Amino acid sequence: MMTYVDYQKCVAQLNVWNHAYHVLDAPLVSDAEFDAAFRQLQISEQKNPDWLMPESPTQRVGDIASSTFKKITHDVKMLSLANAFSIDETVDFFVKAAKELAIPLLQLSIFSESKLDGLAISLRYENGLLRYGATRGDGEIGEDVTHTIKTIQSIPLKLQIDTPPDVLEVRGEVFMTKSVFEKLNQSENVRSFVNPRNAAAGTIRQLNPKAAMERPLQFIPYGMGAYSGEREFTRHSEILSYFGEIGFKSNPNNHAFWATKTAFEQDYQRMEKLRDFLPMEIDGIVYKIDDLNLQEKLGFIARSPKWAVARKFPAQVMTTTLLDVDFQVGRTGVLTPVARLEPVFVGGVTVSNATLHNMDEIERLNLCIGDKIEIHRAGDVIPKVTKVVAEGETRQNIVMPSHCPVCSSSVQRIENQTAYRCSGGLICAAQIAERIKYYASRNCMNIRQLGTKLIEVLCEQGILNNVVDIYRLQIDDISKLEGQGEKNATKILAAIEGSKHTKFSTFLTALGIPEVGESGAKNLARYFESLEKLRTADIETLVQVPDVGSVTANNVRTFFDDAANNQLVDDLLAAGVTWDENKIVENLQPLAEQTWVLTGTLSSPRNEIKEKLEGLGAKVSSSVSAKTTVVLAGEAAGSKRKQAEDLGVKILDETQFLELIESLSK
Ligand code: IVH
Repeated sequence: MMTYVDYQKCVAQLNVWNHAYHVLDAPLVSDAEFDAAFRQLQISEQKNPDWLMPESPTQRVGDIASSTFKKITHDVKMLSLANAFSIDETVDFFVKAAKELAIPLLQLSIFSESKLDGLAISLRYENGLLRYGATRGDGEIGEDVTHTIKTIQSIPLKLQIDTPPDVLEVRGEVFMTKSVFEKLNQSENVRSFVNPRNAAAGTIRQLNPKAAMERPLQFIPYGMGAYSGEREFTRHSEILSYFGEIGFKSNPNNHAFWATKTAFEQDYQRMEKLRDFLPMEIDGIVYKIDDLNLQEKLGFIARSPKWAVARKFPAQVMTTTLLDVDFQVGRTGVLTPVARLEPVFVGGVTVSNATLHNMDEIERLNLCIGDKIEIHRAGDVIPKVTKVVAEGETRQNIVMPSHCPVCSSSVQRIENQTAYRCSGGLICAAQIAERIKYYASRNCMNIRQLGTKLIEVLCEQGILNNVVDIYRLQIDDISKLEGQGEKNATKILAAIEGSKHTKFSTFLTALGIPEVGESGAKNLARYFESLEKLRTADIETLVQVPDVGSVTANNVRTFFDDAANNQLVDDLLAAGVTWDENKIVENLQPLAEQTWVLTGTLSSPRNEIKEKLEGLGAKVSSSVSAKTTVVLAGEAAGSKRKQAEDLGVKILDETQFLELIESLSK
């Protein structure tokens, strides 16, 4: 039985754990431990309703809001920012400010923050407790969205400070990370959002807080509204540090410099490079004069301050014309429509292709060849067609071809799915090449020297017809090709030989059974331990495997019911592919319990490295602490590397990292 004092301690403890997990990215306890304490808290609150504390973590999901949101008048107006689209416009903005202040430009200390692409929210705390969260609205009157705001775990319900200010309004951006957005858009029961900003806005305006809880959002502060407290501030950067102290997350890429044209240029280049690696979308950089005294002297013009400007990144949304649609055949024969566009400059690159996903998407967009369309490019992902802006004068319907554009076999709709598949199977050259590429790829047999271009050429020449042919390659087959030579050919054959010793789960992944990816293969390998047991398993047994549903189970069964597939597997084993059956389980998560931090410029996309590490059992965090096991430091690694050095945390460069991964994959 909990006493009232135990209850109070439990609330405080859970809030500390929550802050460590959601704000500092450095968990103090396991999820199970957190959940157990949370349940205890729920039970004691049910038994003693009069104990309930407003900052109890159970209060994050409250009642469903009524159909209209209450209006809230902001004590201090919520402003907007003037935009600058070039370096000259940015410098001019501060030249004017310096002139007005009658000081040289160089004496302005500029604070640079990423411009988070979400929605502006004002959080009002009274005596340290969250009173409400409100949208910006027209800047003067916003809407009360406290019910969904409270579900955001990085927003403290109670400020972490002993003597809180009487009133504090924390202003900042609520946003959805790119990875949460991707997952949300993949889930079937949610209508798809165009971008993370719309998804965040849609989530905040949900009436049901439970629904908001399922779409995790984050909050990062960037300024202060009403304030009455003891602490005094002379700089904007001090306010941001204060927010960090009282329990908020910080914008990770803040940077201060003296105002010179070169410094603005360098800062822009720094952020442009970082942009694709950030977990959230940013649409520019906000430059602010750090000195609050100078800010006050400058004041405002219309709705924006004269001491801050938003340097916007080039538009990521553009309109163009849909010239044609081609159908690409993938590894499993699925035909994907690809839009061929009138080339257009978007987000800093020229784009002439965009993905259309499937025929349902084309129907949803009501898209025809000849239409003027809007395309969206986010970071380094493939551009997406988002809507039809104007119908073309001559509109041509987009139809799924009845025959495969590569092998002419018939094309059929996959039962209960939106996708269509070429029925050519292994006679389809596109499928053969894609299958071989997949088999040799990094997450499969990892034959790095056998690149995708080379595979395509070897397929075209009829040397590679299936994956077993990889092991039948002779030096001549490769050395006679243009640009290869004997030395290279020998290296490639050695790499093929070296890749034969693998893991059961890797081999299963490499077979390319539909729906069986890396983690599915691991689960199957862990459960069955041997290929023979898996080959003969019935559907009832297969669905017992964690995370294996009836679709995957059926695919596995269908795969092994096929004589050609069984022959292929036998041929691969006969060619010398082996694994150590005892290692299946113990090797699955060699990095379990480890926390990694990635920093600096790395040669592969961060999410790929992150997935790899997570696949090996590690947790990847964004900040360095004493709990960090390893910091992977790429080129130009800065403060995190320094922190790791100071804390004595192990640092690996990329070469050492690749060696480690290589040795773990053996
Ligand atoms: S400062 C008085 N800083 O951009 C200055 N705004 O285009 C108020 N935003 O409404 C804004 N990141 O929602 C500031 N680091 C940042 C920001 C930021 C995103 C948003 C904010 C504002 C909009 C203006």
